Amino acid sequence: MNSLLQDAQMAARRVGLPSDTIVINGGRPLRGTIDVRGAKNLVTKAMVASLLGDTKSILRDVPDISDVHVVASLLEAHGVTISGSAETGILIFDPSNVASANSAEIDALSGSSRIPILFCGPLLHRLGHAFIPDLGGCRIGDRPIDFHLDALRKFGAVVDKLPSGIDISAPNGLHGAKIEFAYPSVGATEQVLLTAVRVKGTTELKNAAIEPEIMDLIAVLQKMGAIISVEPNRVILIEGVDSLKGYDHRALFDRNEAASWASAALATGGDITCKGAKQQDMMTFLNVFRKIGGAFDIEDDGIRFYHPGGDLKPVVIETDVHPGFMTDWQQPLIIALTQAIGTSIVHETVYEDRFGFTDALVEMGANIQVHKHGLEGGERRVPRRPLEQAAVITGPTKLHGSEIVVPDLRGGFSHLIAALTADGRSTVSNVGLIGRGYGDFVAKLEKLGADFSFEV
Ligand code: EPU
Repeated sequence: MNSLLQDAQMAARRVGLPSDTIVINGGRPLRGTIDVRGAKNLVTKAMVASLLGDTKSILRDVPDISDVHVVASLLEAHGVTISGSAETGILIFDPSNVASANSAEIDALSGSSRIPILFCGPLLHRLGHAFIPDLGGCRIGDRPIDFHLDALRKFGAVVDKLPSGIDISAPNGLHGAKIEFAYPSVGATEQVLLTAVRVKGTTELKNAAIEPEIMDLIAVLQKMGAIISVEPNRVILIEGVDSLKGYDHRALFDRNEAASWASAALATGGDITCKGAKQQDMMTFLNVFRKIGGAFDIEDDGIRFYHPGGDLKPVVIETDVHPGFMTDWQQPLIIALTQAIGTSIVHETVYEDRFGFTDALVEMGANIQVHKHGLEGGERRVPRRPLEQAAVITGPTKLHGSEIVVPDLRGGFSHLIAALTADGRSTVSNVGLIGRGYGDFVAKLEKLGADFSFEV
C-alpha cells in the first residue's frame, strides 16, 4: 500500500469516518451555519506547550481532527495523562509524570504529523533528552527543518541525525541565544518560543513569524508564566524563567477552516455562516473575497459568507506570511476563481510545490496552467522567491464530476469543493487526509445540504 493511502486511511480511522471514499452529487449551493472551533495550527502547538507546565493545562475549543489525535498520542507516549475529548472540545493535560517515550510507541506515530519537531525544547527541559521520529505532514514540496535545528544548536543543544529520526541532548544545559531566520518560518518561530521560555537568560529572535496562531501561542505561554515581548519589525524577546505552570485557554478560531467554507459558499453559489470566525484575523482574505464578488456580513459571533448573485471577477494574488494572503487559502479559493469571468493569477511564494491539486481540477474541466518556476514580470508586492510557482486560471469553466484522489489537506478540501460545484457525480478518495485538519467536516457537509454518501 502506498504511504499516502496509508496516511489517509489512518487519519480516516482516527476521526471515525465510515470509509476513505466519498461519492458526491454536485451542483447544489451549500447553505447553512456551522461552528468553527480552534485552529489546528495553534491547538496542536498549545498541546505541546502543556509539557512545559508543572501543573495541569486546560485547552478549550479543540477540534476533532486527526492531527489532534496524533499529538495527543505522542503526549501520552511521553507520560502525559489526558482527560476530556476532542469530541467535546475540551482537553486536560496532566504533565506530572512526563518520561522518555518508548521508541516503539513513537515509531508507530512516525510520519503522521510535523508537530513532533516541536517536542524538542519541552522534552529537553523536562528530561534533558529528546528523540524525534521522521516528520510527516502534507506533501507540498521540500519542507526542511534547518532553522529548527540551527536554533536548537544556538541554545546549546547537541543534535544527532539518525536514520530513524533526530536525537537531541543538552549535556551542558540550554542558554539564551541571538537567532535570526532567513525567512519568517511559523514552525521555527514556535520552536524558539517553546524552548526559550525555560532557558537561562534572554533570547532575541529576529525575522520571526507573527501569524495570529503565533500570537495565541505567546498568549498561552504568558498564562503559564513566560515573559515574551513582541517588538516592532518581527523581533521577539523572550526572558527565560525557572518554572512554568499549566494554562487554561480557549483556542483562537481556525481562519483556514473559515476561509475554506467561505470559498465553498462562493464556488457553489451558496451562503455559509461560520460561527466563531472573527474579522480581525481574516481581513486580508475578506478583501480578496470581496474583490472576486463574494459578500460577507460580520456578525457578533461569526461571519456570514455568501454569493450575492452577479458575475465573479478575476484577481491576482500572492501568497505570503502574515499579514499577507495565506498559502493555505489559495487552494479552496481557486475553485471559485474557475467560475470568475477572466484570468486570475495565483503566485505561490511560501511552499515550492503547492499546485499539484490543480491536475484534478483540469480533468474536471477547469482551465488552469501551472508555471512551475513562477511568472516573471508584472508588479509584485512580495519579493520573488526562488521556489515560487504560479497558477493561471481562466474562467468561467463548467466543472464536471470526476474520480479524484486527494493529495493533501488543503488540496483535498479544494477537491471537495470542486466536486460540490461540479455537475454530476464525483468519487473523492483519500478523504481521511481532509480529516487531518477539518473537524466534523462530514457533519458540516450534511448540515449545509450537500448530496453525498460514503462508499463502503
Ligand atoms: N522553512 C525552511 N527551513 C525551516 C523551516 C521552514 O526553509 O527550518 C521554509 C519552508 O520550506 C517554507 C517556508 O519556510 O518554504 C514556510 O514554512 P513554515 O515553517 O512557515 O511553515 P510550517 O511551520 O511548516 C505552518 C503550518 C502550515 C502553513 C504554514 C504557513 C502548521 C502545522 N503548519 O507550517 O499549515 O501553511 O505554517 O503559514 O502549523 C496546513 O495547515 O495545511 C499547513 C500546511
